[in-house]
Amino acid sequence: MSYLGIDLGTSGLRALLTGADGTPLASAERHYEVAHPQSGWSEQDPADWIAALEGAVDELRAAPGWDALKGIGVAGHMHGAVALDASDAVIRPCILWNDSRSHIEAAALDATPGAREISGNIVFAGFTAPKLLWMRTHEPGHFARIAKVLLPAAYLNLYLSGDHVADMSDSAGTSWFDTGARDWSDTLLDLGGMSRAQMPRLVEGCARAGTLRRELASKWGVGNVAIAGGAGDNAAAAAGTGVLNEGQGFVSLGTSGVLLAARGGYAPSPQTAVHSFCHAVPDTWYQMGVMLSCTDSLNWLARITGTRPAELTAPLGEHLAAPGRERFLPYLSGERTPHNDADIRGAFTGIGADTTRDDLTRAVLTGVSFGLRDSLEALKSTGARPASLLAIGGGTGSRYWLRLLATVLDLPLHLPKAGEFGAALGAARLGRIAATGESPTEIMTPPLTGEVIEPVTGMTEALNAAYARFGPAYSGVKSIQ
Ligand code: XUL
Repeated sequence: MSYLGIDLGTSGLRALLTGADGTPLASAERHYEVAHPQSGWSEQDPADWIAALEGAVDELRAAPGWDALKGIGVAGHMHGAVALDASDAVIRPCILWNDSRSHIEAAALDATPGAREISGNIVFAGFTAPKLLWMRTHEPGHFARIAKVLLPAAYLNLYLSGDHVADMSDSAGTSWFDTGARDWSDTLLDLGGMSRAQMPRLVEGCARAGTLRRELASKWGVGNVAIAGGAGDNAAAAAGTGVLNEGQGFVSLGTSGVLLAARGGYAPSPQTAVHSFCHAVPDTWYQMGVMLSCTDSLNWLARITGTRPAELTAPLGEHLAAPGRERFLPYLSGERTPHNDADIRGAFTGIGADTTRDDLTRAVLTGVSFGLRDSLEALKSTGARPASLLAIGGGTGSRYWLRLLATVLDLPLHLPKAGEFGAALGAARLGRIAATGESPTEIMTPPLTGEVIEPVTGMTEALNAAYARFGPAYSGVKSIQ
């Protein structure tokens, strides 16, 4: 038996084939673009996701174990709105999680009595409900044709199974959802101008949502394959890293920066700008702080200096330098935790004629680490107390950044041993559980730790002092923008 985990990411799709015991057998990746038709807008054509999936599957079909495929799980970037007409045709490009065009609609919904209480979350500008209100005002022709709205992972579920079906973890990020009750909220749907009939059927992430369509099964050379409910990418990463219980957590250094803590129950705290969402496992919830421009900040510096991110970080070595005069605020696309501010933009200050490229790189890594510290402080205010964090995502390639982050967070960072542990593995695990009915807690185990990165004690005081200036710097920049 084998299982396929699909991680539909912002910059590309990764498909991972695992064996019966979860051992990785093969993987394939395809990349696609994000369009920014206007400042603050981010869109993708769902047809690019399907082409990426078909390309990845074409490659994996040659892998040993492919023809024994029994289950598929999809993890997707969250909050995106795929609007479909009555024949399931895509009406307009998907508006993504980091698109801030609907911040006015978001603020209005967020101020509506009951909205935060039912959804357990701030109605952030990137969430799904305000995107549809924006369409209602600015694209009434499109809005009038909407028969269903699917999140990106649910759109792949539709392609795979032929059914409109979504999981709880992703649906919790729509602002149409009662996160405690794990169901659509008619009150919130009504506030958002939508109806239950326009929503997909709901299942738990690890439950069987359907079966691979017959045409796809014969094209792909496989038999009867279960499709799992799937998950939002962060819940899937938590499934892949075994983050299920209170005290466990991870920090993910990806396009967005995420500090996620598994919680013992549902205790939302929207006023902290922490996200409280369902996990991909029944009766389980998690909380996370989200920063919008994590590796994206470093990517930006690389782009404008005509180099690659790894070439910026390599010259820094491993030895932490004391915080310099140069400071960076990482708000290139606005910020969620802790500011809930779609309008704020980033800043570089303290630049002198002697400032070098390395100084700018250190400032960017420090600013992003301070943003993640803000998320940790917000999580702590809800009672979360992770004693250590797993560190995952592309940014973990820089040892300088890891040592800096461990020191800024004052927490040991556990680096998983080389291998699979991210959202694609989590998704494959969901596919496995959907196919076999095995117990999630037995399958969703943590990876082996390869190395522990400890805080650099001699640097804690200087970094704490610099962090104390970070919050006021936000207010300062806010006042002049
Ligand atoms: C979470 C969020 C991002 C996306 C993209 O709320 O918006 O982490 O899921 O990865």
